[in-house]
Amino acid sequence: MYNTVSTQNHRLYLEDVALEQVATQFGTPCYVYSKAALVKNYQAYQAALGDQKHLICYAVKANSNIAVLQTLAALGAGFDIVSAGELERVLMAGGDPAKIVFSGVAKTAGEMRRALEVGIHCFNVESEAELDLLNRTAAEAGCVASVSMRVNPDVDAKTHPYISTGLKENKFGVDINLAPAIYERAAKMTNISLVGVDCHIGSQITEITPFIDAMDRLLLLVDQLKDHGIQLQHIDIGGGLGVHYQNEDVPSVDDYMAQLLPRLEGRQEMLVMEPGRSITANAGLLLTQVQFIKSNGDKNFAIVDAAMNDMLRPALYQAWMDIQPLNTDSSSAERQYDVVGPVCETGDFLGKDRNLTIAAGDYLALFSAGAYGFVMSSNYNSRGRAAEVMIDGAETHKIRARETFDDLVRGEQLLPVSTEGH
Ligand code: LLP
Repeated sequence: MYNTVSTQNHRLYLEDVALEQVATQFGTPCYVYSKAALVKNYQAYQAALGDQKHLICYAVKANSNIAVLQTLAALGAGFDIVSAGELERVLMAGGDPAKIVFSGVAKTAGEMRRALEVGIHCFNVESEAELDLLNRTAAEAGCVASVSMRVNPDVDAKTHPYISTGLKENKFGVDINLAPAIYERAAKMTNISLVGVDCHIGSQITEITPFIDAMDRLLLLVDQLKDHGIQLQHIDIGGGLGVHYQNEDVPSVDDYMAQLLPRLEGRQEMLVMEPGRSITANAGLLLTQVQFIKSNGDKNFAIVDAAMNDMLRPALYQAWMDIQPLNTDSSSAERQYDVVGPVCETGDFLGKDRNLTIAAGDYLALFSAGAYGFVMSSNYNSRGRAAEVMIDGAETHKIRARETFDDLVRGEQLLPVSTEGH
């Protein structure tokens, strides 16, 4: 994936901006994104797809800041959403509703109504119960809902178990063997129009084979349905490629398409993709400042101001993410540190056993933090969520203010004070 990080005079830059300047101007912890990297990453999919009829639906869950969505909407991107909240974000950012696919195992009738009202491309339906509810909801709204069934192709994506979704044991989609019967039932529903089939086998996939296996299974199903008079208009292969965090050998989008597109040759169905991580991960960093250095016997800790509430991936998936100082012109000695946050949990770390040349007060960057970073942050320990900044060439734009105490208690209420003294 495209990288806009560089080192100049011992200082880390994102595009033309020194990250130390961002840290001092906006404070830490702070997420910072490169607009050029977002654009290039999206365009890599567009270019690799060439003449293939396609729709790239960026998976909003990876990074839903409205300025990020606006950047992608301006390039003509479609969007993969999983909630009414994500739908409103896309609309606010100028996204085209006709290019939205709506995924997720538990859409509510209210969410369905809103999506029907704005005219999304289709619902990625994950169960028969959902299909029934959608048919009823569309009937009440006096319209027809476009549907793709999410099938579970039972393919091992060879990724972390928490982000593997295409196995029979996962909660997602319907069993591909049961799909023909479900399609035939759906074809008889008055307020359902069958337009596609989709799957999503997992995330941070760094091999092409599982995607190809999944596509082959989808194609068998598509042909089987055609024999039964059901002609689909699109095939949605789900999320995109994994990214480089440590020493993964990640195939390029070109390599991926070189293997996938021949499978679709001579077919009329449009290819839909839902990449998230590969668009935003390497476009973003999390900036943090070392508060204290501490040694417990032979273990050294760099205690920083970013915590698991800001970036959950290391705690939740044991994810390894690179950590580097923003200024490498240091007189400190190199030592090995666990980089930990202020939250009262042993699992609150950003990285373990990292060799760093740092001192208290130094700024650090956590790399590849643009996907599943801010979006998974919380207010645990009553910590306000971080600021977000977009860099565009030499310009910096604040795209989300750091949360204040007022933000934290918004909507909370004290109980009425008792007059009886207890
Ligand atoms: N489509 C569907 C239906 C999905 O569930 C997902 C991700 C995507 C597309 C986007 O997949 P991607 O291109 O990003 O691989 N929080 C985890 C990742 C969870 C992914 C969930 N689904 C992490 O930080 O690694």
